[in-house]
Amino acid sequence: MTANPYHKMRSADAVVPSGCPVDHNFSPYNSDYLQDPYGPLQKFRETAPVFYAEQLGYLVLTRMQDVAEVFKRSDVFSSENVQDPVLPICQAARDVLDVPDYNPVAVMSNCQAPDHTRIRKYTLAGFSARRMSLLQPYVRQRSELLIDQMLTTSNPAEFVTAIGHPLPGETIFRLIGFAEDDDTKLKKWTTNRLAFTWGKTSQDQQVDIAEKMLAYWRHCVDFVAHRMANPADDFTSELLAVHKDTPDALGYREIQSIVYGLSFAGHEIVTNFLSNGLVCLLAHGDQWRQLCLDPGLIKNTLEEVLRLNSPQTSWRRIALQDTEIAGIKIPAGTQIFMSLASANHDEEIFQDSEKFDIHRKNARAHISFGRGAHFCIGNRLALLEGQIAFETLVEKVPSLQLVPDQEFDFFPNFTFRGPKELWLQWSNK
Ligand code: HEM
Repeated sequence: MTANPYHKMRSADAVVPSGCPVDHNFSPYNSDYLQDPYGPLQKFRETAPVFYAEQLGYLVLTRMQDVAEVFKRSDVFSSENVQDPVLPICQAARDVLDVPDYNPVAVMSNCQAPDHTRIRKYTLAGFSARRMSLLQPYVRQRSELLIDQMLTTSNPAEFVTAIGHPLPGETIFRLIGFAEDDDTKLKKWTTNRLAFTWGKTSQDQQVDIAEKMLAYWRHCVDFVAHRMANPADDFTSELLAVHKDTPDALGYREIQSIVYGLSFAGHEIVTNFLSNGLVCLLAHGDQWRQLCLDPGLIKNTLEEVLRLNSPQTSWRRIALQDTEIAGIKIPAGTQIFMSLASANHDEEIFQDSEKFDIHRKNARAHISFGRGAHFCIGNRLALLEGQIAFETLVEKVPSLQLVPDQEFDFFPNFTFRGPKELWLQWSNK
C-alpha cells in the first residue's frame, strides 16, 4: 500500500515550526474532545489560536481567517495529505490492498493542479442542477418510506440505523448509477471506510475494512466497464461520454477512481450531518416547533447546523515550501490541522457563536464545505438530502423528541463527528 497513490503512508518525521506555542496534550482522539470539542477549542482561540500539537505532529489553526487563508493558498498548502491514514495501518490490512488490481488513483480531494483542475471540471458537471433535480424524487420517496418504516416499527427508534445511514448511501449509489439490487452489499462494503483513514481502529477492523474496500473497488471497476458498454442517464455515463469523446481529457482509470471515491466522500458524512441536525433541533424544542410551523426555515437551519455542529470538524494540508501563516514562519513539510469546528465558532465572525439560532443571518459563512479549489462538490447534494429529510420529518412527526437522558457516543476519529446512535421518540396520537 505504500506505493499506492490513493492512500500514501507518510513518514512520522514531524516538522516543528519555531516561535509558536506548543501544546503537549491536544488530540482529537481524547475522549473529552470527542464528547465536546468546542470548549477546548474556544480556550485555544483565546490563548493560542495557532499552536503546534506535539502529539499529532501538526500545526493547528483555530481562527476562521487563518483556516480560510490556507484553503485559498492551494499553491503553497497542498491537499495531497488529506487521504493519508492518520494512524499506522497494520501490515495485514496493507497486504489485503497490496494486490495488482487494487489501483485507484488520486483524482479529487488529494489530487493537485493541473490534474485536479482538469478532472474537477467534469465531476462538477455531474452535480449539476439538472442531475440534482433528477435525484430529488428518489430522495423524497426513500425519505418518506424510511421514515414511515421507522414510525411503524418501534417507538423509541434509533435514527442512524433507520434513516441516517441508509438514505445517503442509497442516494449516492443512484447518482453513480448502481442498480438498486446491489444496495445491500454496497452498504456493507462502504460502511466504516472513514474509520480506515481517520479512525482509531483495531487490526481486525482494519483488515475487515480493507477487504470491503477491495471488494467495492472491484465492483466499481466492473460497473464502469458495464456502463462503458451500456450507457444510461447517470453520472458515470456522463463521465464516460467525455472519455469516449476525448480520452486525454478524462482517463478511464480516473473515472473508476472517481466512482470509487464518491461513496467515500459523501456517505457517512451526510449520516452525521442529518444526526447532528436532529440533535441541535430537538435539544432546542422551541426551534423545532418553529420549523414544524414554517418549513421555509429549513434552508437556513441546515446552514446553522453545519456551522454549529459540523459533521466534519477538521481537514488537513501540507506546506510545499517555507512560508508564513498568522505571522509564524513554517518550514516546507509542515502538516496543518485546520480546525473547521473552531473556525465555525469564531466570535470574530459569529455573534454568540456557541448559540444555536436557526435565524442566524450569516449562518452560511461557515467553512464546513471548505473554500477555494477543492470546495466540496457534493454540497448541493448534502443540502438536498437534508432539506428533504427534514421536510419529511416535520410533516410526518412534529411530536419528535430526543429520548431523555441518552448519552451520545462518538467513534474515535480525527475529523468526522456524529453520534453512533441517536434514539428518538414521538407521541403515537
Ligand atoms: C454535509 C456534508 C458534507 C460536508 C460537510 C463536506 C465537506 C467537505 C470538505 C470540507 C471538503 C474539502 C474541501 C477542501 O479540501 O478544500 C470536501 C470535499 C469534497 N466533497 Fe464534501 N462534504 C459533504 C458532503 C459531500 C457529498 C454528499 C459528496 C458527494 C456525493 C461530497 C464529495 C466531495 C468531494 C468529491 C470533495 C473533493 C472536491 C475536490 O477536491 O475538488 N461531499 N467536502
